[in-house]
Amino acid sequence: MGKAVRLDKFLADGGAGTRSEVKKLIQKGLVQINGAAAKGPEQKVDPIGDVVVLNGEIFGAAPEFVYYLLHKPAGYVSATEDAKEKTVLELVPQEKRRKLFPVGRLDKDTEGLLLITDDGALAHELLSPKKHVDKTYYALLEGRVTVEDGERFLHGVDIGEKNVTLPARLEILSVKEKEDASGEKVWQSEILLTIHEGKFHQVKRMVEAVGKKVTYLKRISMGPLRLPKELEKGAYRPLTEEEIKALKSC
Ligand code: URA
Repeated sequence: MGKAVRLDKFLADGGAGTRSEVKKLIQKGLVQINGAAAKGPEQKVDPIGDVVVLNGEIFGAAPEFVYYLLHKPAGYVSATEDAKEKTVLELVPQEKRRKLFPVGRLDKDTEGLLLITDDGALAHELLSPKKHVDKTYYALLEGRVTVEDGERFLHGVDIGEKNVTLPARLEILSVKEKEDASGEKVWQSEILLTIHEGKFHQVKRMVEAVGKKVTYLKRISMGPLRLPKELEKGAYRPLTEEEIKALKSC
């Protein structure tokens, strides 16, 4: 048994609305306690022992699984534990860590969208080699990227695996000549690359296969998920219901 509290306080503290908003919900008959319609805002509920239903859904119950979209900064490894390095899980406060793990890996120096969850079945599904979830990366390259490179990516390149890579889509954002630290002129290219698999260092190896070098890499989307512009590096937010649904049906 927990400490009994007023129903309107219980709902308002749990985020259902202000005290006056939740009173209206109770008056409209949208709240049930242990299967019976709530009598009024002053009715006492036991937050642990009583089952409060709002709009047909259990209110305040810990969700079975949680899903977070993290903006991974460089310098963190995509692991739950590491003897030497900082892990992405350290960006989630201890009390929220449950049994969370990152879905797939971004290299230590890669930034961007990383899904963190404790839903093992969904993670397994998303990472399945048969699934081919689209992943789009923004990259800065040393070298002059060309339309021919895009054609090679489309047909698959040899990165030293058994098979060439699956067709990938290149979008060239800019190609510029710059001066490097020693005053020498060098080419720098900015690209978006969408791949459908997740081999180790895949983008870096594909870029190397066409004779250039990745100097900065950031994942901006994965399946239906997009890295939100307003989500700062190192910050995370729960996925919305729509994002979870889209992810489960992608
Ligand atoms: N490809 C890479 O080379 N590195 C990443 O972190 C992700 C994709």
